Amino acid sequence: MTITTDAQSGQIRNHFRDEVESLLVREMERMFDTVPFTREFHAGTATDADYYRRHVVEIIQRIRLNNEVDAYSLYRMGSRHDRLAQKLARYLEEEYGHDAMFLQDARRLGLSREDVLSTPPFFATDLLIGFLYHSIHVDGPMPTMVWNWFVEWYSDRYNERITCKAEEHLGRDMVRGARAHLAFDADEGHVELMFSTVADVVRSERDAERVKQYLVRFVRLVGMYFQELHDATIGGAIDETVAA
Ligand SMILES: [Fe+2]
Ligand SMILES: [Fe+2]
Repeated sequence: MTITTDAQSGQIRNHFRDEVESLLVREMERMFDTVPFTREFHAGTATDADYYRRHVVEIIQRIRLNNEVDAYSLYRMGSRHDRLAQKLARYLEEEYGHDAMFLQDARRLGLSREDVLSTPPFFATDLLIGFLYHSIHVDGPMPTMVWNWFVEWYSDRYNERITCKAEEHLGRDMVRGARAHLAFDADEGHVELMFSTVADVVRSERDAERVKQYLVRFVRLVGMYFQELHDATIGGAIDETVAA
């Protein structure tokens, strides 16, 4: 049996974090190269009113669906992973209601609560949510932790720039909710909290490989989402109905 000291496990954890963050940066770069408008949008050098408004709608839809996935994951953990369940419960408690911040922005952008909630999510979001439920059945708590950490990492890395550009283009009132959300994540230390849950579920080399595989798949699904967002707004609407 190998005994690792706290200092050693801290080092291993830092090394693992560097590794998965570089993997994410590489995968995101690949998305920027292949999905139109994603590079400018994430760099904060360009935005578009229709694209941004539809993005806000999907953020609201995804927050609500994701809270349900997290609650399901918590239920599935039962009493087998109490420490991890406590962290997820805390995270979920803090995430409930974040859709309301973006609903304020949507209203200022001209969309009522009914407009937003009656908009069907993009297919990529349906796939993501379906994949998350399926993954919980296959791999237990891991995929939930990896996805939530990814969401926080993404937000920390890109949302400030995305929001600044939208503010410049659309006006300060249109991004009040997005700004409040950014401040909340920074105050609550969500990136750190959720990375600690990823570290908790990695106990072997195989687990580490699974985490990387999930991250690659999540970025792929995010790329599909941005492709659909592009096609439905600035790229010209694509009709999903099949011609007879
Ligand atoms: Fe949030
Ligand atoms: Fe958060």
